[in-house]
Amino acid sequence: MRRLVIAVDGPAAAGKGTLAKALAARLALPYLDTGLLYRAVARRMINAGLDPAGDASKEATALLQEDLARTDLRVPEVDRGASLVAAQPAVRHALLERQRVFAAQTGAVVDGRDIGTVVFPDADVKFFITASPQARALRRHRQTQGEKVLDGEALAVAVAEITERDARDSSRETAPLLEAPDAIRIETDTLSAAEVLEKACKIISERC
Ligand code: C5P
Repeated sequence: MRRLVIAVDGPAAAGKGTLAKALAARLALPYLDTGLLYRAVARRMINAGLDPAGDASKEATALLQEDLARTDLRVPEVDRGASLVAAQPAVRHALLERQRVFAAQTGAVVDGRDIGTVVFPDADVKFFITASPQARALRRHRQTQGEKVLDGEALAVAVAEITERDARDSSRETAPLLEAPDAIRIETDTLSAAEVLEKACKIISERC
């Protein structure tokens, strides 16, 4: 098979990572979670006592492979910090080539916000994975808290956080979260991970 590049974009906790990982395994392609790049930059800023809203270009340039393997990248302060550093054009510029090089030799499944629009505008297949803010907040809660019950108030806070992050990601000037005109949209509210995967595989086999 030729070296496929599959782009998987969408808002937070819509199921992009789950799909991208499963697709990579099914197609025997490397998987790149580009959110980790922005998370690792935010982590560096926070650990250095710096505000992630401030200039993060040095931290983006200095990013090492070890930074991406840290275990403390999926915590609320980093969720927020990542979307603040990701709004900075210099940070996005510093990380762009790294993402392209990753897929150059082998192809890849890449998930993020601007993969089909900016990083790989010529991707073989582009997916836009989305779901309602409520479904996404619940999913994120289960990922971090397991089966612990989420009461109405806590759900409202989780929905507000996710909506704030989406608004910042969609409204920034550089590489905002946008559905590429040639992306295939999959709404995951009522679909299981296995159903999303089957749908995506069918589309890829029809097109590639
Ligand atoms: O996907 P994840 O939630 O890990 O991404 C964290 C943050 O990184 C997002 O809220 C977004 O601001 C930023 N991001 C981005 N472009 C990407 C991937 C992530 O701006 N390609």
